[in-house]
Amino acid sequence: MRTGTTPVVVIGAGIAGLSTALAAAPREVVLIDPGGLNSSGLAQGGIAAALGPGDNVGAHVADTLIAGAFHNDSAISRSVLSQAPDAIAWLETIGVSFDRSGDGALQLGREGGHGLHRIVHAGGDGTGGRVVAALRERVRSAQHIHWCTGVDADALLMRGDAVAGVRMRDADGTEEWIASDAVVLATGGVGALFARTTNVESNTGSGLALAMFAGARLRDLEFVQFHPTALDCDRSRLPLVTEALRGAGARLIDDRGGALMAGHHPLGDLAPRDIVARRVWEASRSGRVLLDATALPSDWERSFPTVLSLCGELRMDPRRDPLPITAAAHFHMGGIATDLLGRSAVPNLHAVGEVACNGLHGANRLASNSLLEGVVCGRHLGAHLRDRSPRKGRGESRVVERGAALAPGALTQLRRAMWNAAGPVRTADRLREAIDLCERMPGWEARVARALLVAALRRTRSLGAHWRADAA
Ligand code: SIN
Repeated sequence: MRTGTTPVVVIGAGIAGLSTALAAAPREVVLIDPGGLNSSGLAQGGIAAALGPGDNVGAHVADTLIAGAFHNDSAISRSVLSQAPDAIAWLETIGVSFDRSGDGALQLGREGGHGLHRIVHAGGDGTGGRVVAALRERVRSAQHIHWCTGVDADALLMRGDAVAGVRMRDADGTEEWIASDAVVLATGGVGALFARTTNVESNTGSGLALAMFAGARLRDLEFVQFHPTALDCDRSRLPLVTEALRGAGARLIDDRGGALMAGHHPLGDLAPRDIVARRVWEASRSGRVLLDATALPSDWERSFPTVLSLCGELRMDPRRDPLPITAAAHFHMGGIATDLLGRSAVPNLHAVGEVACNGLHGANRLASNSLLEGVVCGRHLGAHLRDRSPRKGRGESRVVERGAALAPGALTQLRRAMWNAAGPVRTADRLREAIDLCERMPGWEARVARALLVAALRRTRSLGAHWRADAA
């Protein structure tokens, strides 16, 4: 077994983790990257920023609070959203080329819950990939970052009640302990705990598990966002069909061509995501739900190349035929409770991005606020770690292990149970049944799932993305 020491460890290499690692310079950082795809890289829509004519931070905050069912921490929402224009400017300085019109103005898209056009995008619907590529390029040449790829962080070293290090393990099982008094979890969400999801398979809450077992306070776990338009197909990760298509004029229809959202919300197809996802979920119980983008005037190759290519893999052509779609788990509003600097309740343990819950999103995230959170909060946290004096824990040393994972068959069973019990529409009976199942399962994923289910059972009233059919 190898050992090392570093001032800062960042676990996770999505937008939040990469932004944190960069901003911690010149402090040395060990970046633990499990490799493969992550949610940041798959994000299509873009980054919300109040930059358009007639827009302002107050309007962006108001839309965020309405979408979040006013469960947000409004001071945090205001603080993060007010930094959106700066975040866009910074991303441009590191090489992200956002889409602009002929006159040089940023092209702004529109998505659900936004009162006006506010979504800055790059490569049409390829924003996440472009931003991740630019950040990775910077990380690659950063002298202060030691980038370890293809490794999993599976245990925390504690001294007294404080985190003092992390254990990482490579694909061959070789272990390495890194002593550090600043460990950042940037490990993403829990979407892959659900049978229908837009998330990569590894998004089963690995960082949440470590934090939970180390005694961190978790918050709002019941709030899971379901995206209304994932492509309905036979894959474990369902391809996302960006909401920006509806912003450009695509319409949700039923089997007979009827407008799905008519009479359901004043914003119609562009209602907040929780409302559209529930409507899609309900309608799909009695028939197919389709997204009709055939009348879009847009230049598909330039504006929606990702959707076009994902559909092509499945031999679908959105320019010619309406797409079969389904609701799918997409984003976790809940997570490790943190303040704006990413500090958790456990000394020396920080969290940022989707795994964290600082109150920005409330009970339902406004579209395209998540990449923004990753950049703004990541940069804040990195700067904080750069300036912070080391804090050694005192007391006995102990190891907090994540433990064994579920076998593939059991994980499939858990995912089905989670979709049925804690999907877009929930009831106490189904939640209790799923909790019983989790209690009979040995792996750490079942403990994360159980915590989420218990939170959903306790919140007996519907709020935002948490919908209780038995108490709505
Ligand atoms: C989308 O493009 O519809 C997803 C963007 C987001 O998750 O905010």
